[in-house]
Amino acid sequence: MQGLFITVEGPDGAGKTSVIQELVPRLKKIATRPVVVTREPGGSRIAEKIRQLILDKQNTEMDARTEALLYAASRRQHLVEKIMPALAADEIVICDRFVDSSLAYQGAARKLGIQEVAAMNLFATEGLTPALTLYLDVDSDTGLQRIYRNRQNEINRLDVEAPQFHQLVRHGYLKVLAENPERMVKIDARQPLADVVEDCYDIVIKRAPNFFQ
Ligand code: TYD
Repeated sequence: MQGLFITVEGPDGAGKTSVIQELVPRLKKIATRPVVVTREPGGSRIAEKIRQLILDKQNTEMDARTEALLYAASRRQHLVEKIMPALAADEIVICDRFVDSSLAYQGAARKLGIQEVAAMNLFATEGLTPALTLYLDVDSDTGLQRIYRNRQNEINRLDVEAPQFHQLVRHGYLKVLAENPERMVKIDARQPLADVVEDCYDIVIKRAPNFFQ
């Protein structure tokens, strides 16, 4: 694969969506090749159906391993249909959440084990790993406050988990970060949005100068 694969990660309320919305147009202006922005399920029909099962508030009896397997299945389909072809075509792919989300949410917060969930995802990704992961770090109090303030975002099944769940998610991310210092960069997402975007922009260009003018 010759393209550039970047993922954006963070606990709920970190502001990933807003950051990506502001970051991408700026990167597009200086990119030397097409920029594809995606998020799981990424418009894949099959991945979308799997995702609906996971996020359905009625599925309260869903087992944690089932949830982890379904995320990996949805991820696989999105990878094959969208990410792999773009990378093969030498493009820049920016993906909102990827395997690290499963490590933090299912591995750490649902207590399945980060190593176990990583191993299961390895099967789904065949080892395809982002070149760079922008980890937007926010403490769980700030994250939760933002979710509830911003009510127009639909509150899904995972958002209604107890505050302790959100803390476990963040700790999970911090563990994954400690184990992947070359790939993951932590950005303080409590800063004003413009500053977070600026940090992300600088890091991307510094890490992948060949893809930008
Ligand atoms: P989503 O609507 O994509 O929210 P966000 O804008 O925060 O990304 O919902 C994703 C939810 O699913 C979010 O709470 C994180 C969770 N999630 C996992 O638990 N495991 C995963 O592998 C992924 C991709 C997401």
